[in-house]
Amino acid sequence: MARTVWDSTVGKKTVMAVSGLVMLLYLVVHMIGNLKIFFGTGEFNGYAHWLRTVGEPFMHYEWTLWLVRVVLVVAVVAHAVSAYQLSRRDIKARPSKYVHKKKRASYATRTMRWGGIILGLFIVWHILDLTTGTVHSGGFETGKPYQNVVDTFSTWYGNVIYIVAVLAVGMHVRHGFWSAAQTLGAGSRTRDRALKTVANVLALLLTVGFVAVPVGVMTGVVS
Ligand code: HEM
Repeated sequence: MARTVWDSTVGKKTVMAVSGLVMLLYLVVHMIGNLKIFFGTGEFNGYAHWLRTVGEPFMHYEWTLWLVRVVLVVAVVAHAVSAYQLSRRDIKARPSKYVHKKKRASYATRTMRWGGIILGLFIVWHILDLTTGTVHSGGFETGKPYQNVVDTFSTWYGNVIYIVAVLAVGMHVRHGFWSAAQTLGAGSRTRDRALKTVANVLALLLTVGFVAVPVGVMTGVVS
């Protein structure tokens, strides 16, 4: 049963929609959490500590965080694998005249494809930068994310990498949210305008909220 659903195009689109919505929920929470940096070192570092103790005493230290990490990894892999397989199907299903004419994929398909690749690469960079500190520009200190974030946005390339990624998030969410709503059957002639508005507002809020942090450091509001 699960095999049949996974093998169908609509099954893969459903996997994309559901995993996308899970990641979207994480992004909204992450963006709001990041804004705590504007309330100072104590509040931001305290928040990062809370992320590790949430659920105690029922949960052990970092258990909830690891649970979230596992869910996110499953979502990222499911999203990427189904996106790849759907795009292979799409190419195979094209009539051969398309191949001769070298018809290009639509604007939305291209931005989603390249945006997805950029975001995949960014997530690896971001974890090596602010979670493990492997590629971090300053003296990375575990448990001191405030200073780590300030260090990241004190280099020109840190700002470029994050701002490009955040713009990619905005564009990806704008189209992705809309597609997910259609796949999950929320679309209708009366609701489509409202869905587009929700997609645009979500994309804008995420972009502005995330970009506020590098801008805050660059302007000296956060230092
Ligand atoms: C300006 C934008 C961003 C800032 C300042 C930022 C900041 C941070 C920080 C400080 C951490 C480490 C938290 C900790 O260990 O306590 C983190 C983790 C993370 N961020 Fe971001 N982030 C930004 C954008 C993004 C975006 C756009 C994505 C996804 C597309 C993302 C996904 C993640 C993930 C997956 C983790 C790993 C959580 C973990 O397992 O430790 N972040 N971020």
